[in-house]
Amino acid sequence: MEIPSLNAILAFLAVGGGFLFIRWRLNPLSRIPTVGGPSIPGLSILSTVNFLRNSKDLLVQGYEKYQGSTFKVALLDQWLVIVSGSELVDEVRKRPELSLATFLEDIFQMKHTLGPDALGDNFHVPIIRDQLTRSLGSALPEVIEELSIALPQCIPGTSSDWVSVNVSHVSQKLITRASSRIFVGQPLCRNEDYLKIALDFTMDVVNDRLTMSKMPDFLRTPVMSWTSSTRRSVARSIPLLKPIIDQRKALMEEYGADWTDKPKDVLQWVLDEAVPRNLSDERVAMRLHLVNFAAIHTSSNSLVHALYDLGAFPEYIQPIRDEIESIVAVDGWTKEGISKMSKLDSLLRESQRIHGISLISVTRKAMADVTLRDGTFLPKGTCVAAATWATHYDEGNFEKAAAFDAFRFSRMREAPGQGTKHQFVHTSVEYIPFGHGAHACPGRFFASNEIKAVLAFLLVNYDIQFEPGQSRPDNIFIAENILPNHDAKMLFRRRGTLELH
Ligand code: HEM
Ligand SMILES: *[C@@H]1O[C@H](CO)[C@@H](O)[C@H](O)[C@H]1NC(C)=O
Ligand SMILES: *[C@@H]1O[C@H](CO)[C@@H](O)[C@H](O)[C@H]1NC(C)=O
Repeated sequence: MEIPSLNAILAFLAVGGGFLFIRWRLNPLSRIPTVGGPSIPGLSILSTVNFLRNSKDLLVQGYEKYQGSTFKVALLDQWLVIVSGSELVDEVRKRPELSLATFLEDIFQMKHTLGPDALGDNFHVPIIRDQLTRSLGSALPEVIEELSIALPQCIPGTSSDWVSVNVSHVSQKLITRASSRIFVGQPLCRNEDYLKIALDFTMDVVNDRLTMSKMPDFLRTPVMSWTSSTRRSVARSIPLLKPIIDQRKALMEEYGADWTDKPKDVLQWVLDEAVPRNLSDERVAMRLHLVNFAAIHTSSNSLVHALYDLGAFPEYIQPIRDEIESIVAVDGWTKEGISKMSKLDSLLRESQRIHGISLISVTRKAMADVTLRDGTFLPKGTCVAAATWATHYDEGNFEKAAAFDAFRFSRMREAPGQGTKHQFVHTSVEYIPFGHGAHACPGRFFASNEIKAVLAFLLVNYDIQFEPGQSRPDNIFIAENILPNHDAKMLFRRRGTLELH
């Protein structure tokens, strides 16, 4: 066979390259400006690498440069269109062709790990939004009881000595334990094997997603059925869950829809939906872990941010503690009491604004071609989101936006008619850590209540501070994720005996 000449190879490359280039020019996405590097085929990898490392700065740059319009950044294996400005955020959250569930399915490739039914039939969303939220009153004393047992186990030392504590570790332990009490009840919420699966589940999903990003779509199904961290964890949790599921199913068989002492937990509500659908125990476990995935790291990282903020601004600790103690003295540890703690609420709202857990939210995927109000054309299949951090640091949205001011929102709430508008759980086009609109995070009422309970209980029972000379450790930005530093320690000191009532 004849060896092709250099000219022939060059001609072939030129034609092939030209073809790719023309195809790209015809792609409607090429008209949306790219921030962070080139968008032409082959070179867009540079934009991906840039976004992995400099996501925060790129999103802020794009947000400012394209105010009232859109730009795009490069994720691992697709483009993400970012809308900048309140009007577009409002449009994105309202457009029916833009779907959150499909975005989540796409970004985590859940059909390969959690099964095809999870987001198509998302019955866990009303469970979280309605049933879980309605039961916060009865859940709170249980959360407090769980904390009073778990805290001394996490923070050793009974004396009045300062002990050095890995903040991330303690936060994960407390949140997993408290959440599990309300998700699966006793005694499973104290089973270390179960707690480890519940906590690690988020990383399982992330690991599987990374594995899948390295292969074409047709390989994902076989590879994931052969090796998947998610599926392995689901399988390991089945022997722990099965006896409880069997027992609950027997009660449902005997008594029907309701009976005295019917458990009020996520597992039961999932079973209420799963039994009529004849879903297997494996599917029940998957749904439960999907809730763990949505709930645990989000809440834990938010608690870590708040603890670091109190370390960085210790002057806020005593006023918040005074408020907690005076309310608990009257209301006890109740949901009513917790909801009166407006300084604590303000601290969490501000901590989430200044730090938060994601640079983007109001994430959606176009189910059909969509033209936005500024003329941006999103072809079917395009992913779109708002720039959360940039929105929260916009001087037009918040006065002295870059300054951490723990009581900014509790002061605003003192104005007439502003009582609920600036609460932690309240979303708007300017405040989007939980997204916004009909699909805003359904778990935010639970999250707010639980994080407040943990923080209030900690502040009443412990003094906390950074080690001398240490300041707030920098956040870590990886693509769209904001992670609080996971290795920093703080000093904790017990204040008297554990205060339960
Ligand atoms: C501080 C903690 C949390 C933060 C910051 C947070 C944030 C978010 C965000 C940004 C979304 C997407 C909404 C959008 O982009 O429009 C979301 C969705 C969701 N969150 Fe949360 N979340 C938190 C805690 C929780 C908890 C504790 C649960 C469960 C108990 C939960 C369950 C969910 C679910 C199921 C969805 C998907 C909703 C749907 O498919 O319509 N989240 N969350
Ligand atoms: C602190 O705890 C986190 C979460 O458990 C862990 O990932 C990290 O390695 C720990 N850091 C140190 C220094 O022990
Ligand atoms: C329910 O599922 C089981 C196995 O998954 C199957 O054997 C059974 O026939 C199903 N029952 C109904 C009523 O669909």
